[in-house]
Amino acid sequence: MGLLKEIISKKNKSLKPIWLMRQAGRYLPEFREIRKRNLDFIKLCLDIKKVKQITLQPIKRYDLDAAIIFSDILMVPYGLGQKVVFKKNFGPQLGSINLNDIKNQPEKKFLKNLEPVYKSMGMIKKDKTIKKKDLIGFVGGPWTILLYMLNKSSPKKNLRKVLSDRSLIIDMIRYVNHFIQLHIYKQIKSGANIIQIFDSWAGLVKEKNLQDFVYEPTKKLVKLTRSLNTPCICFPRNIKNYPEYTQIVNPDVISIDYNVDPRKILKKIEIPIQGGMDPKVLLTNKKNLEKTTNYYLDVFKNHPYIFNLGHGVLPQTDPSMVEYLIKIVRKFNDRASKN
Ligand code: CP3
Repeated sequence: MGLLKEIISKKNKSLKPIWLMRQAGRYLPEFREIRKRNLDFIKLCLDIKKVKQITLQPIKRYDLDAAIIFSDILMVPYGLGQKVVFKKNFGPQLGSINLNDIKNQPEKKFLKNLEPVYKSMGMIKKDKTIKKKDLIGFVGGPWTILLYMLNKSSPKKNLRKVLSDRSLIIDMIRYVNHFIQLHIYKQIKSGANIIQIFDSWAGLVKEKNLQDFVYEPTKKLVKLTRSLNTPCICFPRNIKNYPEYTQIVNPDVISIDYNVDPRKILKKIEIPIQGGMDPKVLLTNKKNLEKTTNYYLDVFKNHPYIFNLGHGVLPQTDPSMVEYLIKIVRKFNDRASKN
């Protein structure tokens, strides 16, 4: 068990653990080196040895408190038999799929397609590098996954009018959610001791649909995760009402995006909070990084808080800025433990 789980379970308020979304990725030269020789991204996510190596890259380089398995939220559509490719300078591009394809997918086939992910998790878990650290498994939120499946590319690039039949969407979310549950279950059984749900496009859902598209299905995932004695972190990026989400979905930790005012949210949420700082701060300078990091740490000094960003590390980030960020957080912790 690592520091994250300790903070979550004992509600330790003074120590602030740190890990970063997308901590393994394109800003690291050692990742780019592997990536340039492995042009098929999905294939890379299914290469057990390389997944382990990439997952541990940031852990070997930095003093982080948790590892997150190198994978992608789009491995679930892949497991369902949908074609998924990552095009350079474009992002993911998916093939077609319909409700019947999802309904008729045997669990066995889905699990076989994703078997290497679970094997990688088992291999990582056994590595001594993370003996005293947490190992985070993850899934995409049901809404975000369905949106990619139907839109077939990032909604950031072009959001098609794919979602008009409300009851069909609810039906599809239900079926997709079943497989997301399986994916959570298998990751935990393979060694993940924390699960994070990335609902990156939760902010696009209209208020009248939140209950059916986001709250209800996500609540099921949280329930399953917690029933397996595993804490669940939820990241409903850009959602308008974090306190309402937190109250209804009931996660162990709520991860906030960089549009959230940390002082305001602190007054409204009692459970442990994660993240918040804009990843663009890492693109500025050390002085500004120090000031902003200390601001977040200070706001949450009497609240259980896991330091992270308000979204993933950007590809153009200088790795030495990440190193400096971790140093600032450690310094804060040293001071706190002396007081
Ligand atoms: O956090 C980690 O270090 C673990 C690995 C991880 C990846 N993707 C690896 C990756 C995680 C947790 C994800 C989650 C993910 N994937 C999300 C949720 C978080 C978010 O960013 O909102 C989403 C929406 C995706 C889907 C996805 N994967 C997109 C849109 C893209 C292309 C654009 C981009 O942001 O990189 C990916 C590709 C991807 N996933 C890369 C990595 C390291 C880059 C692949 C490359 O080298 O080209």
